[in-house]
Amino acid sequence: MDRLRKNEKRTLLVLKGISGKGSVDQIVEISGLAHSAVMRAALSLSKKKIVIINEQKQTYIELNSEGKSYARTELPERKLIMTLIQLGGKAPLDTIRENADLGEKAFRIGLGWLHQKNWVKEDEEKILRAINIPSKGIDEELISIIDEKDVVIVEDLKYDLHRAVLMLKRRKLLNVEEKVSRELELISTGWELLKKGLETSEEISKLTPELIRTRKWREIDLRRFDLVVPGPITYPGKIHPVKRIIQRIKEIFIEMGFTEIRGPIVETAFWNFDALFQPQDHPARDMQDTFYLKNPTHGKLPKEEILNAVGKTHENGWKTGSSGWGYKWSRREARSLVLRTHTTAATIRYLAKHKKPPRKVFSVDRVYRNEKLDYKHLAEFHQIEGIIMDKNVTLRDLMGTLKEFYMKLGLEKVQFWPSYFPYTEPSVQSTVYVPEHKTWVELCGMGMFRPEVLAPLGIKNPVLAWGGGLERLIMLELGVDDIRLLYKNDLNWIRRTPICQ
Ligand code: PHE
Repeated sequence: MDRLRKNEKRTLLVLKGISGKGSVDQIVEISGLAHSAVMRAALSLSKKKIVIINEQKQTYIELNSEGKSYARTELPERKLIMTLIQLGGKAPLDTIRENADLGEKAFRIGLGWLHQKNWVKEDEEKILRAINIPSKGIDEELISIIDEKDVVIVEDLKYDLHRAVLMLKRRKLLNVEEKVSRELELISTGWELLKKGLETSEEISKLTPELIRTRKWREIDLRRFDLVVPGPITYPGKIHPVKRIIQRIKEIFIEMGFTEIRGPIVETAFWNFDALFQPQDHPARDMQDTFYLKNPTHGKLPKEEILNAVGKTHENGWKTGSSGWGYKWSRREARSLVLRTHTTAATIRYLAKHKKPPRKVFSVDRVYRNEKLDYKHLAEFHQIEGIIMDKNVTLRDLMGTLKEFYMKLGLEKVQFWPSYFPYTEPSVQSTVYVPEHKTWVELCGMGMFRPEVLAPLGIKNPVLAWGGGLERLIMLELGVDDIRLLYKNDLNWIRRTPICQ
């Protein structure tokens, strides 16, 4: 048998003191050794058949965000059945829908479970009848238990709740993590060894020049290393996954010869909309999509020459050859302050100041839209945007550039579709194939700026532009299906997300 190492001896002595049996955590605490040191000692002691390691699986569960929201309210099927009972125990589906005050998605989920749990009967006229007032189910019980304790170990739950764990797991309301707890147990060889007594001569773990020169290394007890024993998991500091992808995208633009630009977040409607030939009654300007500032409400407009040209272009096309939108353009409306809804505002501001080709610039920056927050939407998010202005550039150059851009992101198959933006003609939408998900996903919109956009700013060369949401790309890259996770600072998720995909 190999000689025992110092930590193995210490582990054995601790075990002896606790009648030959104890968990790794316990030994860590008594010995003062690091967890990894005890684990290493345990593994080699078990290899030498001095102890055995009993492993026990523990399943930790917690509610995910949907689960937590049900803990705060109640399960949608409970809400529906209570609504139905309030309505007299019998009501048409639509009436229940109206009275239940659930979102459409939650309503449908609730309805599914209502049937699955056999709480109602439905006839051909879509009239629902409550069968009884259902008592609290084990799934509801489990939700409250987890909600109270935050984290629960499944193996510690009483047996009839195990079925509830399966139900909630199937319903995707849980985060589940399995851990293994380990217990060491001395066996007869170990006891014999301890009876004989362990000599506790110091082990040497560092070979010094002194030891070599004096040839003392031949006599001493040099500690051996086992290089295949697993070490502890460490969580080194790292850059947030979103930030890392933003950096990568900026690098790609820079590799392709683009320079970064930025513009103000609080922007006038003029640069966000008017200069982009979006009429003042365009639905996107509506309060529902755009955040308007309360204080101050209005900002400054650029010089008269540009204003006049943009206004005339909206009204009758000015010198652009277009017939315009045919309405009376309002300067006051153009002065309204908004949170920019797209980075194209920064682009057009830049173009107004840099009229001479060639230009290749990009931005990756924040934009704001008055969206209801859900797994797909945020009110504050990012857009990527790039433009090229040069003599004789064409749509083909734009599609080629996009292909190269996507290729550098690891997206190889790209398709282009005709599309519409008020400021580009032609306009194109691009979709990319994501092999991991086996689907085509819409990413960037693009096009060539219209004369109605370029002429009022005095730009004489064609401008290619493309832009799109960043978060969607990040979600694909990281395999995230709820956009809110990106900004929740969920330490577990951040730690789990590897630096290299
Ligand atoms: N600004 C557009 C959007 O918000 C994208 C786009 C940029 C389209 C540039 C064409 C040209 O979706």
